[in-house]
Amino acid sequence: MGRIKLLPAEVASKIAAGEVVERPVSVVKELVENSLDAGATEIRVELVDGGKKLIRVQDNGSGLSPEDVALCFKRHATSKIRAEADLERIATLGFRGEALASISAVSRVTLKTSDGSGEKGYQVEREGEKLLRFIESAFPRGTMVEVRDLFFNLPARRKFLRSDRSELSLVVQFVTTMALAFPGVKFVLVNNNKEIINCPAVTSVGERVYQLFGKKVLDNLMSLDYEEESYRISGLSSRPFSGRLDRQHQFFFVNRRPVKDRMLTAALTQAYLGILEKQKNPEGFIFLDIPFEQVDVNVHPAKAEVRFRDPQKVFRLILRAVDMAAREESLAKPILVDEEKPEADATWLEGKETSSPGRDAIYKQEAGLGSSEAKTLLVPGGEPARFKPGVIAEAVSKKEAAPIKVLGQYLNSYIIAVSDEAVFVIDQHNAHERILFEKFRQLEDQRAWTSRQMLFPSVIDLTPKQQLAYQEMQSELERLGFRLEPMGGLSFALKEYPDVFQEAEASAILLSLLEEEEGGKFQSRREKILATMACKAAVKAGQVLTAEEMDFLASELFASGTPGLCPHGRPVVIQLDRSRIERTLGRQPE
Ligand SMILES: Nc1ncnc2c1ncn2[C@@H]1O[C@H](COP(=O)(O)OP(=O)(O)OP(=O)(O)O)[C@@H](O)[C@H]1O
Ligand SMILES: [Mg+2]
Repeated sequence: MGRIKLLPAEVASKIAAGEVVERPVSVVKELVENSLDAGATEIRVELVDGGKKLIRVQDNGSGLSPEDVALCFKRHATSKIRAEADLERIATLGFRGEALASISAVSRVTLKTSDGSGEKGYQVEREGEKLLRFIESAFPRGTMVEVRDLFFNLPARRKFLRSDRSELSLVVQFVTTMALAFPGVKFVLVNNNKEIINCPAVTSVGERVYQLFGKKVLDNLMSLDYEEESYRISGLSSRPFSGRLDRQHQFFFVNRRPVKDRMLTAALTQAYLGILEKQKNPEGFIFLDIPFEQVDVNVHPAKAEVRFRDPQKVFRLILRAVDMAAREESLAKPILVDEEKPEADATWLEGKETSSPGRDAIYKQEAGLGSSEAKTLLVPGGEPARFKPGVIAEAVSKKEAAPIKVLGQYLNSYIIAVSDEAVFVIDQHNAHERILFEKFRQLEDQRAWTSRQMLFPSVIDLTPKQQLAYQEMQSELERLGFRLEPMGGLSFALKEYPDVFQEAEASAILLSLLEEEEGGKFQSRREKILATMACKAAVKAGQVLTAEEMDFLASELFASGTPGLCPHGRPVVIQLDRSRIERTLGRQPE
């Protein structure tokens, strides 16, 4: 005789319920997920005795129609998926149609709801498997589910519940997690009439972290935002050199679903190798948004785990996201500014008036340009009197606006300067190049180039390619003050040169202009010519500078208002902010 018997439906449903509902927090989880799936913007969770006696979740979501109320407690009744194919791309938190059935199998449940169509609402009361009541009853749009006496009919399970306090603390942790996942939703958690969490809707994870963890935690976080092929990583994680001794602030959300995943934790840990002290762990509030079909959420009875189609990719993206953000955040970061838009090439060639008088006036006043005296200032060369003392004094007096003090030169290439708020490392070549470029632009705008006769005309040989380039650029070059005379064959004599340069360097500068390749990042040939001249004329790395010259470079650079990039796009200054220095060295800012 066969020994196998089908279990009575009641027993079977209790077993199934046990998979979904393990303790009060499981009920809270299912009900809150339903509220979120219903589009609620406010969710209130009330408990009595850590949820053992009562769990009540109320939302302002879509509510249920009377037909749905009649069905929602049935096993496998769901509005969220329709067919097997839908399992491939689940966009909601729930999808099995099991939660309400399971909860009602092991407790006394009351559901009140209204979908806002008409005045009416509905109320259902159930006990275990039994329907006690289904009546009309006025209710505002939304849903409230009350769950009393969890496991009243499953004494074995009830015995395994822990103290009120520890059941409560699981719920606190869960509501905290959901509140992080949905900053736009207001969450309230109350136990025995005492409010434990109350966070009104906000617009960013950062604000939510602030509401739940406070300013200190938020201050130690940096934002992540990295996207690659339809995968996106966003959220917040520890700034370099911060972190915590425990791992409590590590939250991962996959398409807003909180998940626990060893791979994700490992990725975060690895991402921080070398940027945190050894004993510290990174904090992470990390959101992965990935195509729904790239992740399987149907792998765990409580939906707490997911399976990625391409785990290596996720791992790599987390490393990358943290790496990018950490670079941005790193102790020393270059000052970057937007490049001013240069005028179009054509206007310049046509010789139209393009300069703005306002800008010119300011410039003249500031730098004294246009006067013959000031021009010497632009002459860098290797000679001792590279910068005229009078002009240096003028430039230095501008320091009042942003007092910058030069401390000295490092490796004969970098100027170290300080202000009250930061330490600056200035690349002397890039800085000078930037300054000269600005001035050359001004000369252009003012049509103020003047040329000088060579005392000893130098003879240069131009390759056919260079000759071609010369023919193309002749009018621009002559406008700048270069004048070449053919001497037969490859030879040309340089007769005149722009007087912002030294005679000795004039032919080298001309040759480099003729060597320039087409294209590049410059918007016009004019910009490119000016940049090349600035580069060639600027002091070089490795060149010893006098204190006055360093003062001049630093103050001119900061007075220019665009110290960020050299004309070729390289950074000019690294700035170490005082607040970063103090934070890194563990000092409280005053
Ligand atoms: N708070 C609510 N607001 C509106 N509709 C709800 C709410 N709670 C439940 N429902 C409706 O009842 C149905 C059944 O809910 P239930 O939680 O049992 O299943 P599910 O959410 O579809 O899937 P899962 O078992 O994975 O949670 C839902 O599909 C939804 O249509
Ligand atoms: Mg559900």
